[in-house]
Amino acid sequence: MNDVPKHVAFIMDGNGRWAKSKKLPRSAGHKKGSETLRDIVEYAATLKIKYITAYTFSTENWSRPKEEVSAIMTLLEDYLDDALKKSKKRDIKIRVIGKLEGLSDSIIHKIKKLELITKDKPGLCVIFAINYGGRDEIVRATKIIAEKFKQGTITEITEEVFAQFLDTGNVPDPDFLIRTSGELRTSNFLPWQLAYSEFYFTDKHWPDFSKEDFDLALLEYANRKRRFGKTV
Ligand code: IPE
Ligand code: IPE
Ligand code: MG
Repeated sequence: MNDVPKHVAFIMDGNGRWAKSKKLPRSAGHKKGSETLRDIVEYAATLKIKYITAYTFSTENWSRPKEEVSAIMTLLEDYLDDALKKSKKRDIKIRVIGKLEGLSDSIIHKIKKLELITKDKPGLCVIFAINYGGRDEIVRATKIIAEKFKQGTITEITEEVFAQFLDTGNVPDPDFLIRTSGELRTSNFLPWQLAYSEFYFTDKHWPDFSKEDFDLALLEYANRKRRFGKTV
């Protein structure tokens, strides 16, 4: 039996299909999806999980209709406002990975404020992947490393050194990846960090994903055999 995973990553997929099944606009699915995330974060904070990474908006999601992108950005800002309001009372630490460039000034400001206010919080660390693409992250890290190598501040490039320059820095790799809504792919999410993670797929749409569904997933994780290339 494995312990509770230290780090769980979520591909929160299916907001649009959930809304469609209820004859609602896609934005209603995103709204319900953000409530699901709030509930899952509150629940995870009561377990022994140390990190949650939530795929919130990908570098490819900009190609959606303008109205949908703007609805998602408004919800994101609401989420940040709410987290700022709760930050004094909660033990939760918040981090953001992805490219800040391209986000609105007001969102960037709120992200920075939230990261600063919560940086020494001892509890669950919630990492939002916003304007995140795994390939973009690897290219950005490579550019920094190349510059430092040229200047001589880095003399050796190892896996450990490389990982430090990814947005996830010193965060341990996810133990467990959960993707809702039935698609069997990773959609440019954490390609480096998921190298040895256990994957779990469920047909439930993200807005319907409950604590009970999370418990079921965690139970399956507990019974997985992790080998990391070794023999059993
Ligand atoms: C996930 O739900 C949320 C984001 C990608 C922002 P989708 O919006 O992708 O929902 P489906 O996959 O179209 O149902
Ligand atoms: C992945 O979902 C991105 C997020 C959940 C934020 P998508 O809906 O964008 O992925 P694809 O297009 O189905 O691969
Ligand atoms: Mg989708």
